[in-house]
Amino acid sequence: MSFQHVEFGLGTVLAEVSNLDYKFALMRSIPERGRGVIARYRDFLPVNDETPIVSLGEGDTPLIYSPRLSERIGRGCDVFVKNEGVNPTGSFKDRGMTVAVSKAIERGARTLICASTGNTSASAAAYAARAGISCVVILPGGKIATGKLLQAFAYGAKIVAIDGNFDDALRIVRELGERGDFSIVNSINPDRIAGQKTAAFEIVDEIGGAPDFHLLPVGNAGNITAYWAGYGEYQARQRTFPERQSNASTKVPAMIGFQAAGAAPIFHNQIIQKPETIASAIRIGNPASWKQARAAIAESHGAIDIVSDGEIIAAQTWLARYEGIFVEPASAAAIAGLFKCCDSSEAAYSFKKIPEQSRIVCTVTGHGLKDPDIIMQRMRELKPVPATVNDVQRAIDL
Ligand code: F0G
Repeated sequence: MSFQHVEFGLGTVLAEVSNLDYKFALMRSIPERGRGVIARYRDFLPVNDETPIVSLGEGDTPLIYSPRLSERIGRGCDVFVKNEGVNPTGSFKDRGMTVAVSKAIERGARTLICASTGNTSASAAAYAARAGISCVVILPGGKIATGKLLQAFAYGAKIVAIDGNFDDALRIVRELGERGDFSIVNSINPDRIAGQKTAAFEIVDEIGGAPDFHLLPVGNAGNITAYWAGYGEYQARQRTFPERQSNASTKVPAMIGFQAAGAAPIFHNQIIQKPETIASAIRIGNPASWKQARAAIAESHGAIDIVSDGEIIAAQTWLARYEGIFVEPASAAAIAGLFKCCDSSEAAYSFKKIPEQSRIVCTVTGHGLKDPDIIMQRMRELKPVPATVNDVQRAIDL
């Protein structure tokens, strides 16, 4: 049986599904890692034998120990960076998208739709392409990072830019979704949250328990909701999954979220009509999972805080130069937040007196190449020198 490229349409989708099942049967003997989050965490996800799995091998992302960030905190603490930028489309969205698209196909969906600040649209477009169905993305015009928009075009999505922000786009998507023509794959779809929980599972599996603190950027607030659900579920289920007992969580972390100072509705406890930040991924004034984020922060005894655009860009540069991890600005909010917890007397959560040997995880959510504009402004023109060793040595100027 061959795997054919197919046109949009229900008939062709079903043909592809049976092909996928066939491929999966062949792959059963291959270890579960590297085959995507559904293969690895099936027991924890809303899938069954009838669900056609649409995967691009997402998840299993590196949890990188950072000696320099650990040193910054001191007290024998360990800091790890969970690098979600190495997912198939370069962001954490792929974890939720594999589940949301698989379930949508199971329900007979023919067209996906999402509002996005860029990454959700790139991910939705890729998974729709993989499944052989169409995808519509509604974006705030002129506010999407170059690399993300380019991805949506490459994967063949129908792209509509609006004269409005993300919150307007999501309002329109909700309305279109209610009419039944489209399957919504924003994080208001619980299947997206279910898939994103797997990042928490991976962290617990890797370090042999939950960390003490988990820092991450907050935009529409789906990810902080998902991590908190993931940690809670893993902790609760350890009794019923003895095979996971040895490295199961016995505690849950304090969740500390960071919003950009100009787009911080949860921090200020009010809708921001005109959110503004250089971190366009989290330029959101009325997050859909606001209440769930508040609950995660309260139940985990965590905090919500803000970081300025200047702090975000400084953290992005620092992480690239001192750890070799290049992330997009929104992701750097987690690192800027860590610095704030260490250094600032105004931090909502101070790390000055945290218990010795605490373990801290920072999630960096998207790859730096997606949003090159700021760094490109800093690039000097490269003038070629003559192709001789002497000229090159002179140009190196060490
Ligand atoms: N980091 C990046 C790189 C993002 O793209 C997003 C959200 C977030 C953080 C915040 O995550 O919304 O779950 O709180 N991006 C969405 C999008 C809104 O459309 O791509 P959140």
